[in-house]
Amino acid sequence: MGGKMKKRFIINNLNDMELLAKSVAETVKPGYIIGLKGTLGSGKTTFTQFLAKYIGIKDNVNSPTFTILKVYKGPLPLYHMDVYRLENIGYDYELDDFIYGDGVAVIEWYPYIQSMLPNEFLEITIDVINEDNRIVTMEGSGSYEIALETISNRYGN
Ligand SMILES: Nc1ncnc2c1ncn2[C@@H]1O[C@H](COP(=O)(O)OP(=O)(O)OP(=O)(O)O)[C@@H](O)[C@H]1O
Ligand SMILES: [Mg+2]
Repeated sequence: MGGKMKKRFIINNLNDMELLAKSVAETVKPGYIIGLKGTLGSGKTTFTQFLAKYIGIKDNVNSPTFTILKVYKGPLPLYHMDVYRLENIGYDYELDDFIYGDGVAVIEWYPYIQSMLPNEFLEITIDVINEDNRIVTMEGSGSYEIALETISNRYGN
């Protein structure tokens, strides 16, 4: 009981990343939480930009590294966080309303605020293979396990 599902996705170019983000977008609902990790320049913001497009965000999404949080209005609002600067602090309670909000929360560098996160969310790891190739690993339990099954079927893995 309470296991975690894990799926790997082979990404050969930006278009594949867009298709994967689209598959994720098709599973979002209010309160959905996505955590992203991967080295600098692995594609966390790029993934978020594609996701935003497919959840119907019209505004340009750019990296919130220096602001930590950016809020975008849409059919479901997007709360885009980059908690890189919280590495040595570990939390920021002002983010609570957004992590546990009614929109879609996307958190780049989520391990840096691990203690603020719920047990269940969609954990995404991006591994860089070379300039255009990535391996994306997604893990989830509970309702995210079901979402992951859908994502995998849509992406065609
Ligand atoms: N398959 C791919 N998926 C994602 N990004 C790719 C891919 N191929 C090339 N790229 C490029 O890699 C770069 C990824 O940068 P991005 O800002 O998204 O990374 P990041 O993980 O958010 O970095 P940071 O840790 O600084 O926030 C972009 O320039 C993007 O165009
Ligand atoms: Mg980024």
